[in-house]
Amino acid sequence: QDPRISKISSAIRVIPNFPKPGIMFQDITTLLLDTKAFRDTIDLFVERYRGKDISVVAGIEARGFIFGPPIALAIGAKFVPMRKPNKLPGEVISEEYSLEYGTDKMEMHVGAVQAGERALIIDDLIATGGTLCAAIRLLERVGVHVVECACVIELPELKGRERLGDKPLFVLVSST
Ligand code: PRP
Ligand code: MG
Repeated sequence: QDPRISKISSAIRVIPNFPKPGIMFQDITTLLLDTKAFRDTIDLFVERYRGKDISVVAGIEARGFIFGPPIALAIGAKFVPMRKPNKLPGEVISEEYSLEYGTDKMEMHVGAVQAGERALIIDDLIATGGTLCAAIRLLERVGVHVVECACVIELPELKGRERLGDKPLFVLVSST
């Protein structure tokens, strides 16, 4: 394993019982305070995706907006925000997805991406995988090829990777 990974892992703070009893919250704000670990996090993604002919980095609101843009700039791709509903001012397409209680919507601007483009989807964390699946559906509906989904953290117990089916998932840290 890359020696940078263990430092990244230890820079992520785990807060028990937030936002609800029984949840171990993976807090990436402490990773952002560690300039070396934050840079290494971005570098590990950039090293993987540079030269892979990716023209779109799609970042998922909110925490995917932290990691997506520096990766996009470094690999020479555009950044496309996948937003919570009723935030984007232009024409949007949207996808519903399920949360623990009820559903939410994710929206993307029409015209931000073109059919045939190659996209990387970035978020901080995969839990059940519902969020990433909605982002994949949005991009595939307009003919974009999703090359891979990438997250800093995976919670393997929630089996989000299985929900993604044959869509590749790359993570830096697995949290058990
Ligand atoms: C968290 C996390 C992922 C998503 C993962 O976001 O940042 O986006 O949940 O969950 P899933 O794999 O079960 O779908 P959240 O919706 O809490 O909001 P935030 O990023 O705006 O803080
Ligand atoms: Mg999120």
